Amino acid sequence: MKDDTKLIHTRLGRGPVNTVNPPIERGSTVLLPTREILYGDGKVYGRMGLTVQRELEAALCTLENAQHCRLTANGLQSIALAIGAVLKAGDHILISDCAYGPSRRYCTRRLSAMGIAATRINPTLGAKIESLIQDNTKAILIESPGSLTMDIMDTPAIVAVAKKHKLLTLFDNTWGAGLLHRPLELGVDIVMQALTKYPVGHADAMGGAVLTNSDRLANQIAMCSEDWGISLGPDDAYACLRGLRSLHTRMKQHESSGLAVANWLATRPEVDTVLHPALPSHPEHELWQRDFTGSNGLFSYTMTAIDDAQLDRFLEAMKLFGMGFSWGGFESLLISCDDQLDRIDGDRIHDRKGPLIRVHVGLEDPDDLIADLDQAFAAMRA
Ligand SMILES: Cc1ncc(COP(=O)(O)O)c(C=O)c1O
Repeated sequence: MKDDTKLIHTRLGRGPVNTVNPPIERGSTVLLPTREILYGDGKVYGRMGLTVQRELEAALCTLENAQHCRLTANGLQSIALAIGAVLKAGDHILISDCAYGPSRRYCTRRLSAMGIAATRINPTLGAKIESLIQDNTKAILIESPGSLTMDIMDTPAIVAVAKKHKLLTLFDNTWGAGLLHRPLELGVDIVMQALTKYPVGHADAMGGAVLTNSDRLANQIAMCSEDWGISLGPDDAYACLRGLRSLHTRMKQHESSGLAVANWLATRPEVDTVLHPALPSHPEHELWQRDFTGSNGLFSYTMTAIDDAQLDRFLEAMKLFGMGFSWGGFESLLISCDDQLDRIDGDRIHDRKGPLIRVHVGLEDPDDLIADLDQAFAAMRA
């Protein structure tokens, strides 16, 4: 059976009313008939998740080809949970310097308060990360493509080094969404996803997931989740599950419209460099071709030299592209990113001429989106 069919048919058993979708059970208390069931490991309390959360976990296991899934309230919490579950005071973690900013902040600020050290590493090092491993290094955090600058990491090479030194690899697969990339199949130990993005797909809910094929790691993650009281509410879980059913179909449109807009931008005099892994001009295009099965609507570009007033005129002239955080929804978004860049060792755009812009191409007609950018460039030049 093909993946898209499987994802639509991950339906668990139903009660007497046989609806296609699971019921949303809003509940903390679950009334139970016997003491034995009360203290059993079934659906005994809202925080542990009820029917809709169980069904979402099953669908996500299908999506990522995983045996175990634990839900979280948002994507950042999935990263905090995965890392918190496998490290203890005295340990050290290597983190990609192009990981999502708040993930890096968690590693440097929160982990250091817990007595865990973190080193930010250049995402393009590949097997050369071996020289950065310390006696107490226990894990490597990978995110590929990296946030904002879209660096593709050589995951198989990093996994090989990690296995040699008995380190765990943790992968933020929000961009790949389990559809375009399956890190567990490359030997990665734990995958995290912000379900808030493509799985929800409508910018109206948040969620996260931690997935693994290891019984031992799943147990550690479950215990940490219990200790920290992590859960995903039924309404958000329902939105994640409903989004998953149409993920394949939406993603094809995001991919083709994203490429249309990226290719148009690459021809524009206002644009210096387009950072899209599916374009042959991308520095790690070959790694992307080897490890990914497609692309989506999220990419970046740098502009040619402009001043702040021109940048503001461009951003404020857009009519279809909204200015706001997040991505993966049906709507197109565009933000300037220079305020978020704080890489340690000179990334590929450190000598850029103009600002870095991140684009999310939604489900609108790409011709309309291109026309919107065209008129915003004209307003910028005026
Ligand atoms: C790559 C990546 N990982 C994780 C997150 C965090 O997700 P959430 O906003 O659901 O906490 C984001 C959010 O933008 C992201 O871009």
